[in-house]
Amino acid sequence: MAHQSLFHHLCLILLAVAAGAGAATPRQLFLVSQPPVTLTNHHGQLLTGNYSVNLLWYGRFTPAQRAVVADFLLSLSAPSSPSSSSSSAAPSVAAWWATTARYHPGAARLTLGRQVLDPSLSLGRRLSETSLAALAVRRLSPHRGSVAVVVTAPDVIVDGFCLSHCGLHASATSSSSSSASSTRGRGRFAYVWVGNAAEQCPGECAWPFHQPAYGPQAPPLVSPNADVGMDGVVINLATLLAGAVTNPYGGGFFQGPAEAPLEVVTACTGVFGAGAYPGYPGQLPVDAATGASYNAVGVTGRRFLLPAMWDPKTSQCSTLV
Ligand SMILES: *[C@@H]1O[C@H](CO)[C@@H](O)[C@H](O)[C@H]1NC(C)=O
Repeated sequence: MAHQSLFHHLCLILLAVAAGAGAATPRQLFLVSQPPVTLTNHHGQLLTGNYSVNLLWYGRFTPAQRAVVADFLLSLSAPSSPSSSSSSAAPSVAAWWATTARYHPGAARLTLGRQVLDPSLSLGRRLSETSLAALAVRRLSPHRGSVAVVVTAPDVIVDGFCLSHCGLHASATSSSSSSASSTRGRGRFAYVWVGNAAEQCPGECAWPFHQPAYGPQAPPLVSPNADVGMDGVVINLATLLAGAVTNPYGGGFFQGPAEAPLEVVTACTGVFGAGAYPGYPGQLPVDAATGASYNAVGVTGRRFLLPAMWDPKTSQCSTLV
């Protein structure tokens, strides 16, 4: 049977949909002024209903590092609990995600799915964008009810990482019938890659927790989970999941060319709190004990800094605080 399942995987034909690829861009790209944002609905399919987010940890991560991302994902659909948030100056992570429902009332509800470890780098230390999709297929068996997420460790080199992006979301199609349970869009799945930039480019992909690599300089913020790389991963993962749900296959909500779209969060890149301007993330609550900046609270009271999302009702980059 192992033989059969191997064959099954080899039969998967990947068609990366370039037009559907959104990227979390390094900080230097938004240190230039941008035209006014108006995201257009291209009337293609969005992700709606319940999706599990399956994670592949590619390279070495500590349990504490994995917990940062797992708690973020658990928080996306956590019911709001007034008692735990009343003591905090920030709204819930679920309230942040709720902005996606302003694009479509049934916008996907994401829950934490499986986590797979690949500490010994089964496809090597250097990955192309094609191998990211291959990894997602091999290790996460993606299907239509899931979003496959590959997180790469600080020493893993991915084509374009730091130079043009901090992560990406795209879609691929499998020719197998492994997803026969879905009637629509059979075998088509969305995937996301995010890199931990701690060693390669924290000033680009873990800003504002690190001095920016370019442009106006401001002191870096203290990261809420005391891990610059992983708190940067959360910002980029949040960016890409929101993009994947609202523009999964290249025909959803975005501005500009389909090959280089500004999506619901990338349209607001660099904005975290009120009064943000290039190089300054905006006003944010600061934890008195640790000095950490945050703007959202998740399960078990864990704090996060999440990017502003463009709100289609107000046509503004909506900040939580
Ligand atoms: C999603 O899951 C929730 C909780 O299990 C359930 O109440 C809801 O009906 C589901 N939604 C859909 C569209 O299946």
